[in-house]
Amino acid sequence: MEQKKDCYILGIESSCDETAAAVVKNGREICSNIISSQIDLHTLYGGVVPEIASRKHMEKINQVIEEALKVAGTTLDQMDAIAVTYGPGLVGSLLVGVSAAKAIAYAKKLPLVGVHHIEGHVAANFIEHPELEPPFICLIVSGGHTHLVIVKDYGEFEILGRTRDDAAGEAFDKVARSIGLGYPGGPKIDKIAKEGNPNAIVFPKAKVDGAPFDFSFSGIKSSVLNYLNHAKMRGETVNSADLAASFQRAVVDVLVEHAVLAAKQYGFHKLAMAGGVASNSALRIAMSQACEKEKIQLYYPSPIYCTDNAAMIGVAGYYEFIKGTRHGWNLNAVPGLKLGER
Ligand code: KG4
Ligand code: ZN
Repeated sequence: MEQKKDCYILGIESSCDETAAAVVKNGREICSNIISSQIDLHTLYGGVVPEIASRKHMEKINQVIEEALKVAGTTLDQMDAIAVTYGPGLVGSLLVGVSAAKAIAYAKKLPLVGVHHIEGHVAANFIEHPELEPPFICLIVSGGHTHLVIVKDYGEFEILGRTRDDAAGEAFDKVARSIGLGYPGGPKIDKIAKEGNPNAIVFPKAKVDGAPFDFSFSGIKSSVLNYLNHAKMRGETVNSADLAASFQRAVVDVLVEHAVLAAKQYGFHKLAMAGGVASNSALRIAMSQACEKEKIQLYYPSPIYCTDNAAMIGVAGYYEFIKGTRHGWNLNAVPGLKLGER
């Protein structure tokens, strides 16, 4: 019998502040996963500075791609396609990855596959869970997005709910900044919350009337700011650990309630989480407990595959590639690319 040829995809990601490249074999095997983070640089300014991000991507992109090929023990000649994030994200950052991918694909006469960044986050779940296949429910919680979706097939989504204002990660980052924890705030809140009492302060769990799967985090964020202002006016000191734990609890409760309700209502026994906030330890614990109670199988990626990386782009790119998705040399960065749009 003829042996099936292995399929290698080079994934490239540069939508925000990580320059990343990875080699993925046969869709789910990660041969390399190189991430050059700019966090230290942006920490100085309390958040991502787009101009600095794109300049740094330009400095790093070739090096990161070479490293990914080297660690995988492969060359460009072995690649079957180049997959690259083309949106959503910061336009100047996206353009660096898209241009690099186009240049390589053109020079090596390889197919070019543009990937939606969020489709990549969802696909991160396929890396460590070989048994996971669509359909399933997925809660996508990152710095820029909060979506509750049905993953109907690879790259096919039905959106059940989304945030009406801030993304979950954005709320974590803003609250962290208000208590002086710095950027990125999510992991810092996660850490100090472990020392705090989640029942110390009751913050509102924002629900959106008539939209059981939508989210709203600006109310919780404002409540935290009001709480801090009142304490300051009264000359009281605030216990940051209690505040972080209470805020985190309010956010986690809403995420868990909505995701589990969606799984039950739509009759799914598989629920996945994706995006940077999916690495939050309190969310993982609370979601695991709720899923166990409801007999739902829960999936989430290791923290390194939750935050931005190119392995997830290579995985999503593979499924797009075998479906026949191809982009031309006119592929452009699309900062506001919608989920499910091509
Ligand atoms: O998915 P991601 O790397 O980038 C986007 O596509 O936005 O997500 C980054 C977000 C940031 O807001 C960061 O604070 C948050 O994920 N995050 C966390 C944790 N780790 C990262 N939020 C809560 N707890 C964490 N452990
Ligand atoms: Zn992301």
